[in-house]
Amino acid sequence: MRLQDRHCLVTGAAGDIGGATVRRMLDEGARVSMLDIAFPAGRLAGLPAERTVQLLCDMTDEAAVEASAAAAVARFGPVHVFFNNAGIEGEMAPLPAFDRSEFDRVMQVNVTGVFLGLKHVMPVMADGGSVIVTSSTAGLKGSANTAAYVASKHAALGLARVAAVEGAARRIRVNAIHPTAVRGRMIRQITDDLDRRGGTQPAIERIASGILLGRLVEPDDVAATVIYLASDDSRMVTGTSIVVDGGAR
Ligand SMILES: NC(=O)c1ccc[n+]([C@@H]2O[C@H](COP(=O)([O-])OP(=O)(O)OC[C@H]3O[C@@H](n4cnc5c(N)ncnc54)[C@H](O)[C@@H]3O)[C@@H](O)[C@H]2O)c1
Repeated sequence: MRLQDRHCLVTGAAGDIGGATVRRMLDEGARVSMLDIAFPAGRLAGLPAERTVQLLCDMTDEAAVEASAAAAVARFGPVHVFFNNAGIEGEMAPLPAFDRSEFDRVMQVNVTGVFLGLKHVMPVMADGGSVIVTSSTAGLKGSANTAAYVASKHAALGLARVAAVEGAARRIRVNAIHPTAVRGRMIRQITDDLDRRGGTQPAIERIASGILLGRLVEPDDVAATVIYLASDDSRMVTGTSIVVDGGAR
């Protein structure tokens, strides 16, 4: 087991990618602190109570992030793996129509939230730990109607790169992952929104047809990559990015 007795802290733990990753971490022997703004009944059913804790935390609230990091350490000791993953998609619109408050809301969660996570969790990590930041293929290229999301995911990559430099003194590795469309709530929301704006082919089909390996990414495909970055298998990998997109064109 690659994460035996390690303490993993996961934000956005009740979501599709967070939930799949929590389950894989538990399979690998970890203890997991799960942070989210809500834990809908049933989403995380069946997890072992002695190796998990749920902490309600809005990642944009600095006091809450600091308190949750402390509560996680009180429960399971210093953090070995930090999956800094919570994020939102926001609404889709072309730049001239993009609502400013919507832009600010996405940046708050996807940039300020990631920043506050790094600020308050890295100091309570054990030396030699691993941080994984969830960016997106939207953190590497632009696309129409996605100003806030694309900007925020580029910024998340920048934060990961800074944290990799600062974390190195304590041998804390920091890497970013870049999934493309992952089957689940978020991509349904985005593609429904894009379809409402028109287009000859449903957005989900357009995306899937551009993936070399012939299917959408599943949450567990992302979780498997997170486990690699969390484990000693990636012990000399830091300050870099892994794209999980099935070879999307
Ligand atoms: N789904 C995709 O296609 C896709 C692709 C690339 C990257 N991502 C990124 O992966 C991450 C996880 O997304 P997902 O697909 O699991 O979506 P999701 O909506 O299923 O999960 C996101 C989780 O984050 C939580 N969250 C939102 N705001 C929060 C806040 N302020 N504080 C704490 N938690 C908060 C939500 O409650 C939710 O449980 C996000 O950062 C997302 O941008 C998703």
